[in-house]
Amino acid sequence: MASVDGWAVGERLSPAGGVRIAGADLSRPLPADLKAAILDAFRAHHILVFPDQQLTREAQFRFAANFGEVEPHRPRGAAAKRDGVAHILSNLDAAGRPVARRSPAANYHWHTDKPYYPAPPLLTSLYAVELPACGGDTEFANMAMAYEALPAATRRRIAGLRVRFAPRFEPEGERREVEHPLVRTHPETGRKSLYIGNHALGIAGLGAAEGEALLAELLAHATGRAFVYAHRWRTGDLVMWDNRCLLHRGLADFDMSRERRVMHRSVVKGTVPF
Ligand code: OGA
Ligand code: MN
Repeated sequence: MASVDGWAVGERLSPAGGVRIAGADLSRPLPADLKAAILDAFRAHHILVFPDQQLTREAQFRFAANFGEVEPHRPRGAAAKRDGVAHILSNLDAAGRPVARRSPAANYHWHTDKPYYPAPPLLTSLYAVELPACGGDTEFANMAMAYEALPAATRRRIAGLRVRFAPRFEPEGERREVEHPLVRTHPETGRKSLYIGNHALGIAGLGAAEGEALLAELLAHATGRAFVYAHRWRTGDLVMWDNRCLLHRGLADFDMSRERRVMHRSVVKGTVPF
């Protein structure tokens, strides 16, 4: 699909999803035809890549707000940061120097964003401001494809199970767990997908060992290369993805103690999974 404004939706980037929408200027109010094309492409491809953007944090927030309510960002117990702007995700310390800080927080492990919320995010938008010379890709795994590729016996075994999610970085005792269906149905496409990842602690009604083993087996299957699109970033890319049917992870394969990776991020609220 293309328009007189000069934007065009490209070909699917991989069997697992992804599509480029080139020529759009996301800093401007979103025209209705572009919004409709974005929503169509999002349903069909789950990962949208908008190259060559020049976005302030305010503009990125405003773009995200076209698709729903933008989540306030609360890093670990802190009060919400400045509202109305995209927040910063980087490997820089308070003095702006790169640091190798592989925290147990989830970004470098396969995860979906905030599945421990009662109504987890619909989408995340990430905008590349500064990148390492190589490495630092973001990978996405398609959980609907992964579900459909499971043996029928496994699909029967997991039907109706519920996953216990909690933030990994919170000390046990303070953790508030939330349960969601292990197999969730996409509210727009009706496709079933696995809802798993780094914040999945166990399966309701199963013993710890059995639940963890099942989750590990499903995760190993679901992140097989056939289900993965790896995004090689260019400065100015804005990527938005569907947290309801994808896992993602950032690759910590660059020299984090020397190279800078600075991204801006806005997350849009979703609905209760079913
Ligand atoms: C995120 C995330 C990974 C990356 O923004 O939610 O997981 O590659 N990012 O920065
Ligand atoms: Mn994430």
